[in-house]
Amino acid sequence: MMDRETDADIHTKKVIHMSEHTLLDSISLHPFDAALGAEVRGIDLNQPLSDELVEAVRAAWAEHLVLRFRGQHNLTLEGQIAFSRHFGRLDSRPQASMAMSEQHNALPPEITVISNVKVDGKPLGALGDAEAVWHADMTYNEHAPKGACLFAKEVPPTGGNTHFANMYAAYDALDPATRRYISSLQCIHDASRNSAGELRLGFEDITDPRRTVGATHPLVATHAVTGKSCLMLGRRRNAYVVGLSLEDSEALLDHLWAHATHARFTWAQVWQSGDLLMWDNACTLHRRDAFDPSTRRLMHRTQIASH
Ligand code: SIN
Repeated sequence: MMDRETDADIHTKKVIHMSEHTLLDSISLHPFDAALGAEVRGIDLNQPLSDELVEAVRAAWAEHLVLRFRGQHNLTLEGQIAFSRHFGRLDSRPQASMAMSEQHNALPPEITVISNVKVDGKPLGALGDAEAVWHADMTYNEHAPKGACLFAKEVPPTGGNTHFANMYAAYDALDPATRRYISSLQCIHDASRNSAGELRLGFEDITDPRRTVGATHPLVATHAVTGKSCLMLGRRRNAYVVGLSLEDSEALLDHLWAHATHARFTWAQVWQSGDLLMWDNACTLHRRDAFDPSTRRLMHRTQIASH
């Protein structure tokens, strides 16, 4: 998908004028020319935010699903945690599947590092430099996170872009017969592998999706905030639609995944260091491109717990 985020492609929409509470004159919202995503300008995320401003960001997030805050070069760990907490309780980082560097272990528990960087031969973060396939975060749990904030500290010169897909739009665009057919179906979401394909500690390598271990969710979910219907697909590998033959389950999931990740429902984030992106995990999917292993990518993620 082409990068659609040049200024020429952005239309400006003022959401709120601040006369007090912040050091800034105004906050503005710039939706991308795509199925989802918008940039919020005029906020320093290290500063305390007024209730009015938090409400404006919350409303923009519900409408655009992914928000970008550019130029946050001085954002501290505490600043990212405080900003993220405005939108819900934060999860602690998941247990690492290998021995991590001391630098990683010393970070606050709310910070998960996504990185290919190694310190003293040990990883500083998860997911390395490989592609991370389309997924929503941790839907293999009964209560998946509401969203995440990902802050770019270091980015490679090319690659490592993160793509998002709008699951409201994908659901709305299904033909009525398919919408009816899937309305009562449930799918098992595989817990055994992460989005880079790595087998998690303690899990068996499943090859028959009927034996998949993980939470079961409806294929069509109702968003807790907007009340709108969206597709809930989680991740493709080892997914299984309960009650169908394996063949029918595979055919249905192949169809839904091809539809849901079509370019018309997506937008690609081309990272700059200092970008903070927040996404709604309940109504989007995301994937990340691979990048050159000889370059560095270092991101800090905070994860907002389920509704
Ligand atoms: C993720 O899948 O959560 C990582 C996204 C990224 O590295 O851009």
